[in-house]
Amino acid sequence: MSTTTTETTTNTLTVSGTTPKGRMALDGCPTNYGDFRDALNRDGYAVVKGAIPLDRASKYADEFYSYLEGFDLGYRRNDPSTVKRANLPVINEKGMILAYGVTHEKWVWDIRGEPGVIDAFAKVYDDEDLIVSFDVVNVQFSNREDMPENKPWPHQDQDPSKPGFRCLQGLVNLNPAGPNDGGLIVCPGGHILSEQFHKEMANEPRIPAWTPEWFGFTDNGMKWLKDHGLEWVKVCCEPGDLIVWDSRTPHYNLPPNGEQDRLAVYTCFMPVAQASQEDLVRKKGAFEQRLGTTHWPNAVHVAGSNIATRDGEPCPKSRDRPVQEPVLNERTFKLTGIPYIKAEA
Ligand SMILES: [Fe+2]
Repeated sequence: MSTTTTETTTNTLTVSGTTPKGRMALDGCPTNYGDFRDALNRDGYAVVKGAIPLDRASKYADEFYSYLEGFDLGYRRNDPSTVKRANLPVINEKGMILAYGVTHEKWVWDIRGEPGVIDAFAKVYDDEDLIVSFDVVNVQFSNREDMPENKPWPHQDQDPSKPGFRCLQGLVNLNPAGPNDGGLIVCPGGHILSEQFHKEMANEPRIPAWTPEWFGFTDNGMKWLKDHGLEWVKVCCEPGDLIVWDSRTPHYNLPPNGEQDRLAVYTCFMPVAQASQEDLVRKKGAFEQRLGTTHWPNAVHVAGSNIATRDGEPCPKSRDRPVQEPVLNERTFKLTGIPYIKAEA
């Protein structure tokens, strides 16, 4: 990677650092890109302001609420008394809708295809040839009483045995998210101390996880972070903002404490060059069957089905395909990875 050093003087403030070329290093060293990437490199997360214009963010929030009402289970956005389990599709305690093919709903794909969202990832990777995750959506209602407690689940989304920057995660925020509203909470700087943490805490018992690509922090792990000067920060943002974070940055989410519902769509992109042909074929299968891939754009995991389970039984509203099929343009079709699959010789 080549670098140039620049220096900018504004009145008495002198900012110096390097302007790296190519893919971001995510190494914690000072940079002077002059945009969200400086915070991302330093803190391991950043808010990309106005990645989606406010009018379109409002439209997506409206579509999100219409989607929830469209299950015809009794939920109505203007009637708080209808915010009950039985009136809603299956939503887990973390606010995620995992099934119903939601990840391939037209409005979800429209969000993924927003130029300001794709461009943010293209800048980080210095690469326009990207693929996108088929990840889920998140709704956490204000004043909800019938939800199991969302206990803190601080974690990294990356296998500790594979250190270094591997994945940039993201979420598009659709409702105001102030200090008391639900949303992402992060531990700035944790991406840089990650390798040291895992060396020093190698003997700490591991919290069981369904994939080695998830690492949960124990109480001892949390103490280590604190002892090394790291503090937790609630990320505040507005509708249309995109939050990006390095998978090594410790994070989890908080339910709303105020009057505002939380609405978010997870969007994670990576260069197609990081995916194998096998990955792309598996990803194509997920797209064609309208299945999810978690946050990994290279389809590390593919959901087994779109059937939601409610109290051990399949939800009668389960469906294989989205209510509204996605409408892709040339750029969003590329994000499926399908055009990059080589024809067999
Ligand atoms: Fe996560």
